[in-house]
Amino acid sequence: MSSSFVVHPNPNPHSAAERAERLKSPGFGRYFTDHMVVARYADGAWGPATIEPYAPITLDPSASVLHYGQAIFEGFKAYRQADGGIATFRAEKNAERFASSARRLAMPALPVEVFCGGADQLIGLEQAWVPGGDGESLYMRPLMIGTDPFLGVRPSLEYLFLLFASPAGAYFPRGVKPVTVWISDEYVRAAPGGTGFAKCAGNYAASLVAQAQAQAEGCDQVVWLDAVHRAYVEEMGGMNLFFVLREGGKTIVTTPELTGSLLPGVTRDSLLVLARDLGYEADERRIGVDEWREGVASGRVVEVFACGTAAVITPVGAVKSRQGAFTIGDGEGGPVAARLRQALLDLQHGRAPDPHGWMHRVV
Ligand code: COI
Repeated sequence: MSSSFVVHPNPNPHSAAERAERLKSPGFGRYFTDHMVVARYADGAWGPATIEPYAPITLDPSASVLHYGQAIFEGFKAYRQADGGIATFRAEKNAERFASSARRLAMPALPVEVFCGGADQLIGLEQAWVPGGDGESLYMRPLMIGTDPFLGVRPSLEYLFLLFASPAGAYFPRGVKPVTVWISDEYVRAAPGGTGFAKCAGNYAASLVAQAQAQAEGCDQVVWLDAVHRAYVEEMGGMNLFFVLREGGKTIVTTPELTGSLLPGVTRDSLLVLARDLGYEADERRIGVDEWREGVASGRVVEVFACGTAAVITPVGAVKSRQGAFTIGDGEGGPVAARLRQALLDLQHGRAPDPHGWMHRVV
């Protein structure tokens, strides 16, 4: 996209030395670049987007987001390419999901030009912040909040869109080590007709107590079951889940189907395609927690892994619940997850062909 939004340069950007220090070990979500895209909605229309210094924002204490939670966000990444350039991965899918989240939260549609064109311009401006290591990236965080200073419960009449950038390495402090999960039968993440498919802040707020419970049970992450039967696997924390099955000599990569209460992950969608490219069968269907437990015991379920933009692919090594505990394979993660992870990263870093046109060159 070739938009050109007015830039108000940061008068006090990080020095090259400060930036280099942050890029040495970026972690996830700790450091932010010098600028952000800003657009405001009022009187039924979006005003012009601009690029401003990254800085705190002011909100009226009565701003609707602080009370009634009209807040949606996205996450996608810009990757350093093998030739030194920079490309984003499927940002237009995130723009689509942002629009879908906005509809669910009764928020106005943001022009795609602001989302994608704003990202391109910001990445161009901040290109020195894109780290170069394998799996490292510039994580892009768009968000929209209701800012109307009014306490009546109705959709806000005013909104703020921001898009800022954060250099990213491994999401989990332990890197891609397998995680142990706690299957929650007490809390649910989302219910039919709710907001599970939307990337709204409230879904994450509501997940935190279950995540704390998982940690209290000695686990790294919570696994969510469906709200109605408490029997079908939905997600892990904020990530989608995949199961690798061995059936009659075939390897089948399967993931819980999108029922409306799961987040339609961009990495999830990409892995279904990549798995087929690599010669696996891939499908989406209901997966029962019993099928999981029995499949591991019988040797039919050989691997389980979680996926998302932030952490890419994370193997699940062991499972705990009130029904007991079991280990998947040797607990160390398996070759299918490792192969898919490598294939995805090779594509994202421009080291492998891009047959589906997922990469968008920015620099
Ligand atoms: C993901 O990318 O997997 C996420 O859900 C992002 C997370 C940091 C909210």
